[in-house]
Amino acid sequence: MYKIIENSYIGEDMYRMKVAGKFEGKMGQFYMLRAWDKYPVLSRPISIHDIDEEGITFLYKVVGEGTEIFAKLVPGDEIKLQGPYGNGYEKVEGKVALVGGGIGVAPLYLVAKTIPGCDAYLGFREEAILVDEYKEFCNEVKTTTGNTFITDILNVEDYDYILSCGPTPMMEKLVKMCEGTNTRIMISLENHMACGVGACLVCTCKTKFGNKKTCKDGPVFWGEDVIF
Ligand code: FES
Repeated sequence: MYKIIENSYIGEDMYRMKVAGKFEGKMGQFYMLRAWDKYPVLSRPISIHDIDEEGITFLYKVVGEGTEIFAKLVPGDEIKLQGPYGNGYEKVEGKVALVGGGIGVAPLYLVAKTIPGCDAYLGFREEAILVDEYKEFCNEVKTTTGNTFITDILNVEDYDYILSCGPTPMMEKLVKMCEGTNTRIMISLENHMACGVGACLVCTCKTKFGNKKTCKDGPVFWGEDVIF
């Protein structure tokens, strides 16, 4: 069990939780989080937002029983973490755009820290949040809200690589936008998970190389390999 040192609401239905300790993890990997004993049965997969000398930070959205319990935790409470799991983003060189929608912005912060000088495109529902945090490491940070989608303001051909996370329709559109260009895209799939370690097959996704496990083979895949 690890001690929570921050758990605060940051807007757009998102919370930021920081847990004290020494943790490992690369951009795009996730941990399984659990703040209860027996029920709900499953731990919750949450991507790594940041790691520093104090601990590890996660962003999460309240979507059900597990995350409702997370939202009630206060500094000093304890939580069980297992990980890091999964294959994250590859470290690429060139002109890179990070494209996140909603809670999909979460893993892109560690990407911004790991590959400095990227441009970030962050799509929100009502208010743009986290802009100053991303500005620390990004070249430019562009945001959209409301009826303008992040895909409306991005020219994929300005970039060598797009690293993306967000709703499936957004990532499907981005992959299509990259088709026939020299721009390559990595996407982090948000398939529902149960075990998180490749044992249950709940998270299966279709790729050109057959069915893959989102939790173990992904969650990050090259966009051209995924069949939507
Ligand atoms: Fe169980 Fe992926 S969540 S195999």
